[in-house]
Amino acid sequence: MMFNVKADVVLGLNHGDEGKGKVTNSLVKQKDYTHVVRFNGGANAGHTIYHKGQKVVTHAVPSGVLHGVRSVIGPGCVISPKLLLEEIADIESAGVSTEGLIKIARNAHIVTDAHLEEELKESRIGTTKRGIGPAYRDKYARVGTLAETVPELKEFIVDMQEEFYSSDKPLRVLAEGGQGFALDIDHGEYPYVTSSSCTVGGFIANGFPPQSINHVYGVIKAYATYVGSNTSFEGSDPIFAKIREAGGEFGATTGRPRMVNFLDMDLTRKAILFNGVDRLIVNKMDILQQVETWRVKEGGQVVNLLSEEKFKEYLTKAFPNTQIMFSYSPKDI
Ligand code: IMP
Ligand code: MG
Repeated sequence: MMFNVKADVVLGLNHGDEGKGKVTNSLVKQKDYTHVVRFNGGANAGHTIYHKGQKVVTHAVPSGVLHGVRSVIGPGCVISPKLLLEEIADIESAGVSTEGLIKIARNAHIVTDAHLEEELKESRIGTTKRGIGPAYRDKYARVGTLAETVPELKEFIVDMQEEFYSSDKPLRVLAEGGQGFALDIDHGEYPYVTSSSCTVGGFIANGFPPQSINHVYGVIKAYATYVGSNTSFEGSDPIFAKIREAGGEFGATTGRPRMVNFLDMDLTRKAILFNGVDRLIVNKMDILQQVETWRVKEGGQVVNLLSEEKFKEYLTKAFPNTQIMFSYSPKDI
């Protein structure tokens, strides 16, 4: 017996919507992965991917499918069968064959119609109304429904041990995290969080040992955004509305306008430390170019860096143990 799995993990380090989908997409194209794995969350996520010039938004389906890579929804996820099957149909009608590529861990949990209904009236923390909280609540209360018991999902069901450890054949996994560090159930801004683990630990809990991890890619944007009921997020500076417009900051799942602020250096540093991030991708640099503002937040203060060059220098100094890549293109890296 040997450890035959090597994994790269892509994580959001802020409040979600950092552009993880773009990073995943680009890594899948560059490297020879045998699997893409989603390890937390459910249809609350919204990955916007540009595939052959076409905009495809995925919620439940791991984006590896768009590149013909076998894609597994791990046991840390929750699945709404109806939304998943609809999404598969949508991807098929965009001309992408998903045949035999989508796999669901038999012990992933189900978001039931009752869970979805329960969330219709939810506004306390401003969820995506995809039944995520109720499904995880029932999982942890040990009254949940396993994916393997749902007839419509039968053709997709796999066992994690069989899928990843039944031969010595080397496997190369790209894990894509849902949401982001500030939404993590343990480390996020409770109660304004999601109900799953958005950290590298969440990936390990899906059945991948620490030794399997190669690189941890952390993703942020050059500025901060958040959707939910914590209205203290966006300050009064009119620049935030400009950034929202320039950056097209409206939710991929719910269409809600995202609140905007300057990049939170303290949060980002903590996320890098807690996840062992060794590659940092800073997305949407082009938006700050457009609005000609280069500011960050640190220690409760706004730091005005005055130029793009100074902004880059500041981040490079602040996060010395990670290789930083600044990304400008709204599409592929
Ligand atoms: P839930 O995950 O639907 O329960 O929502 C909990 C909080 O996480 C809310 O503030 C949501 O807006 C936020 N959230 C959940 N998924 C995402 C995401 O993929 N991107 C951004 N915010 C998210
Ligand atoms: Mg999103």
